[in-house]
Amino acid sequence: MSQGIKVNSRVLDMEYAVRGPIPQRAAEMAAEGRRIIPCNIGNPQALGQQPIRFYRQVLGLLEDSAAITRERNLRAAGFKEALGNDVIDMAAAMLDGSRTGTGAYTESAGFRFIREAVARFIDSRDSVVSGSTNGSDPDSILLTDGASGGAVYVLEALISDPQDGILVPIPQYPLYSATITRCGGVLVGYHPDEEAGWALGRDNLERPLKAATEDGVKVKAIVVINPGNPTGALLDRQSMREVVDVAREWGLAIIADEVYQENTYGQEWSSFASIIGDEPIPLFSLHSVSKGFYGECGHRGGYLEVRHAPPVVGTNLDMRDILVKQASVNLCPNTMGQFLVHLMVTGPAEGSETHRIFLEEKVRVLDDLQAKASMIRGYFEQMTGVECFGRTGAMYLFPRLGPLPEGQTDFDYCMALLEKTGLVTVNGAGFGQAPGTHHLRMAFLPPFELIEEVMPEWVAFHNGWV
Ligand SMILES: Cc1ncc(COP(=O)(O)O)c(C=O)c1O
Repeated sequence: MSQGIKVNSRVLDMEYAVRGPIPQRAAEMAAEGRRIIPCNIGNPQALGQQPIRFYRQVLGLLEDSAAITRERNLRAAGFKEALGNDVIDMAAAMLDGSRTGTGAYTESAGFRFIREAVARFIDSRDSVVSGSTNGSDPDSILLTDGASGGAVYVLEALISDPQDGILVPIPQYPLYSATITRCGGVLVGYHPDEEAGWALGRDNLERPLKAATEDGVKVKAIVVINPGNPTGALLDRQSMREVVDVAREWGLAIIADEVYQENTYGQEWSSFASIIGDEPIPLFSLHSVSKGFYGECGHRGGYLEVRHAPPVVGTNLDMRDILVKQASVNLCPNTMGQFLVHLMVTGPAEGSETHRIFLEEKVRVLDDLQAKASMIRGYFEQMTGVECFGRTGAMYLFPRLGPLPEGQTDFDYCMALLEKTGLVTVNGAGFGQAPGTHHLRMAFLPPFELIEEVMPEWVAFHNGWV
């Protein structure tokens, strides 16, 4: 018989509710042939969202570069089915820029021409003149395997001592809690004000900082997720300024998780880079091809931008050098993810037919998401005691369930909801929540017909259960 093996207790202790017992039970039900609606994770294409055609056509040519000449010839011969010039030109330019194509290792920080494109994208997004003191620097950008890769690099590098703390919103996306656990640091939770739409005041941030400091914890950074996960809420500028003020006064770096920056549904959104400006506050910001209207989760593309990289004590290096060193141990981010980041920050040339179709697809995806969110919110109003705070952003709704029957938890609620309706959600405790409250998170991604089918069942279940 095997003697068993001892594993790293920090790995054992990591928790990731998004893929925890509720989805595991859902997998069993699916195997029994029962209807399952997986709203536990922001994975749009798993729920039928179609990929943006331009992206996939370019990726296809990148992998099969001989097709570039073939498509050009077909076009020249007048074949209507041939790919658009924009697609062919983009693929050819990207292969040219890469020099080594899709199959070779790249620089550890990722292809330089893509990092340059990311820097231009950031400057244009934040209305900054490229090359100015506030401009983005391609040497301060790392392409990563999804935003997750970048977040892990930053936390691994920052947590140098068991008493090092990271200030994390509660509720939070469990990548942060799990990684802090694995790195052996302390998660210091701060609670945005749910009833004020998850806004932040000075007290929300300073109270936990003071308490942690009294416990001997050295807080090094604050994580802000905007728009939020699991709350979906958009931070207002005043809340962002509070974060910057607190970071300045307490000497914290800001980790700005901005992967949902396209999921703002017509509302104003600002990047932390634009709020910080040229103040010397270290900033690590993350973006991804997984979300927005792209939804290319499986391709694992993202970037990490570093600003005001602090020098590293006892060396002549700065934080940026350390992050590149970490990336070099992984050799390089996957190339298709990198190429998708390029497409995310560029897109087809304006005015072309390809561009017209691209815009149509983009608007359809975002409009549909917004309409689905407001439809689901409408059903919440029919549920006794349920309230959903904050403006709609990201891909999630995080309703507060109100009082549950004696002895029941939001985990019990989500399990019962799953058994009754096939709806897979994540209970609030999986993200952390204010004591005494109960929530669940639902990704508003299923097709309309499925929402229309399942929501009345949920309303009936809820009103019966509570
Ligand atoms: C807030 C947040 N950050 C990061 C990620 C990870 O994204 P990626 O697929 O780019 O690793 C997610 C995924 O759901 C997320 O919600």
